[in-house]
Amino acid sequence: MKKLMRVGIIGGGLMGREAASAFARWFVLQNFPVKVELTAVCDLQESLLEWFRQIPTVKLLTKDSAELLSSPNVDVVYVAVPHNLHEKIYLEVLAAGKDLLAEKPFGIDLAAARKIEEAAKASGRFVRCSSEFPFLPGPQRVVAAASPENISKLGKVLEINAGFWHASDLDPTKPINWKRQNQFCGEIGVMGDLGMHAVHIPARLGWKPKRVHAQLQKIYTQRPDGKGGLAACDTWDNALLHCDVDVAGQSDIPMRLEMKRLAPGATNTWWIEVLGTDGGVRFSTAEPKSLWTFVRGKEQCWQRTDLGHGMPFPVITGGIFEAGFPDCFLQMWAAYAAEWAGELNGKFGCVTPGEAVLSHELFAAALKSHLTKTVVTL
Ligand SMILES: NC(=O)c1ccc[n+]([C@@H]2O[C@H](COP(=O)([O-])OP(=O)(O)OC[C@H]3O[C@@H](n4cnc5c(N)ncnc54)[C@H](O)[C@@H]3O)[C@@H](O)[C@H]2O)c1
Repeated sequence: MKKLMRVGIIGGGLMGREAASAFARWFVLQNFPVKVELTAVCDLQESLLEWFRQIPTVKLLTKDSAELLSSPNVDVVYVAVPHNLHEKIYLEVLAAGKDLLAEKPFGIDLAAARKIEEAAKASGRFVRCSSEFPFLPGPQRVVAAASPENISKLGKVLEINAGFWHASDLDPTKPINWKRQNQFCGEIGVMGDLGMHAVHIPARLGWKPKRVHAQLQKIYTQRPDGKGGLAACDTWDNALLHCDVDVAGQSDIPMRLEMKRLAPGATNTWWIEVLGTDGGVRFSTAEPKSLWTFVRGKEQCWQRTDLGHGMPFPVITGGIFEAGFPDCFLQMWAAYAAEWAGELNGKFGCVTPGEAVLSHELFAAALKSHLTKTVVTL
């Protein structure tokens, strides 16, 4: 018999509704051990609660998160709210005895992330953090190629680069929102917004930054406030983190992580590459079907493989069909549910609290590096 995971959502905005959409097509997962049911939703906005009324399993719609947390029909809570509310609400979820899928960055800063990690440990609840791109077929192939068992096939590792690029902020007339204000997004700015996505695979593969030199940029310092005036836009727009990591017994390999809201032309471009003297591997969501593999033979070449729908958790979707954002978000939730039920069976799992704290340690060090114009040791 399948285990039932009853989910409550706190924060029904962009990501809360994305989660609802993943649950709505849960049946595409084949022979999956967990059934999921969205039972309760909390948001402050009436229009959003109204949107969730179209989902028949949702029995509780509320503006009061305490009401959702006291519901006996909720096992797991997905919290997708602004960063300044993470610590408070995540701790309340744990205190209510519920399991948690937290949104990144897992607290507004390092201190908050550490508190949440401690509370998670003390509570014994199952806690993971959201980061979906590694669940696409291309990144899964990168993880396999760079795994401890296979990385020697790449020869001596030359460098590792990963990033996440957006571009809509290049438009100075784009109105301000909470993600562009330190008080809601955090001092780490774009690193809190996009950084966990760049860190997930390196952290999972054990590439822990030893030192960082960061270059942070604030390009637009004001934006329209939507009421005819201007509001301060005080978050970092772009961040370049130059790190040293140890990889498979090789010391001080350069690893560059890029998080950019101002990357000309990029809509939601997540990418990673691992380069070695004998081989390499590269993937970007800009070309979601393409896996690039470097082969050093008599001639050197970058080979392109046309990827299909080879997802970690099999689905009914045709094997040659291309995968996109809703697919990897569904797969991430499948990974959460499988691990929640003790059925992950060695597959790639969601970000752990320890990995989320590691990302915050890096971002805090990056802030210090930029401020002091020095290389900071972690
Ligand atoms: N995994 C991803 O790819 C991804 C993408 C975007 C955002 N995020 C993360 O998801 C989280 C939410 O971002 P978003 O883009 O969905 O934001 P959003 O602004 O679209 O939604 C946030 C929602 O939270 C609600 N809210 C605020 N305070 C609340 C409270 N006290 N109780 C209940 N609801 C409350 C708001 O009304 C809003 O609907 C953030 O942590 C963000 O970093 C993750």
